[in-house]
Amino acid sequence: MQERRIRADAIPGHVAIIMDGNGRWAERRGLDRIHGHRAGIESVRAAVRAAHELGVGVLTLYAFSTENWSRPKGEVDALMGLLEHYLEAEIDELHRNGIRLRAMGRLERLPEAARAKLDDAIARTRDNAEMTVVFALSYGGRTEIVDAARRLARDVEQGKLDAESIDEKTFASYLYEPEIPDPDLLIRTGGDARVSNFLLWQIAYSELHVTDVMWPDFRKSHLVDAIGEFQQRERRYGLTSEQVRIGTPRPGS
Ligand code: FPP
Repeated sequence: MQERRIRADAIPGHVAIIMDGNGRWAERRGLDRIHGHRAGIESVRAAVRAAHELGVGVLTLYAFSTENWSRPKGEVDALMGLLEHYLEAEIDELHRNGIRLRAMGRLERLPEAARAKLDDAIARTRDNAEMTVVFALSYGGRTEIVDAARRLARDVEQGKLDAESIDEKTFASYLYEPEIPDPDLLIRTGGDARVSNFLLWQIAYSELHVTDVMWPDFRKSHLVDAIGEFQQRERRYGLTSEQVRIGTPRPGS
């Protein structure tokens, strides 16, 4: 298959992906849902490699939501096992390629073994600057906003912050990963056009790309397609086309 042509000078700096469709992929093959998650690990590898090759600066992957804790215990355990397996198998390659690993979410809920491997991987790759991969784990967008509000309220209570001075920038600085810029492109696999509590604050002006491809089938060509579509879009940030053409600064910048 011939690869779609994309412009190297307009690669989105931050791509976020809602990796959906593992269960359906497996069920359609008469397999247990867990086989879909296992196959999904190969897609995680492929997506990280592809994003790196294409020059994406940050890749954020929605690996486990706060709501996913309510799935059957066997599935939750399998997903945690896969996380451990991924970290063990991939950390050397990530590190060799200068990739920094980060994680966002209520990480304290993760089982101890998974948490320890995650902490090691984050510590080992902390100075890498080639690219950043963020795993959203035990993550919920509303929970992130609540956690930020709670820390911010504490700072106001302790007199470190004046309530009147709080603006969008101040609030954003209390989110889980304040140094990471907002996603330019949000991809969702599995065909459903919804956001599912992912990065609610950060996706305010992200371009959305929904594909029917199930996550276990996702490969570089699909990322290239999403970026190709992204490059066709005009990002106006609430301005008019004319204002964008003449270079009016983006509101809030
Ligand atoms: C959604 O598919 C996917 C998940 C809940 C988990 C995503 C996890 C992986 C890709 C593997 C784990 C990877 C790491 C690195 C932790 P679904 O089960 O909701 O699919 P469905 O909508 O078809 O039921």
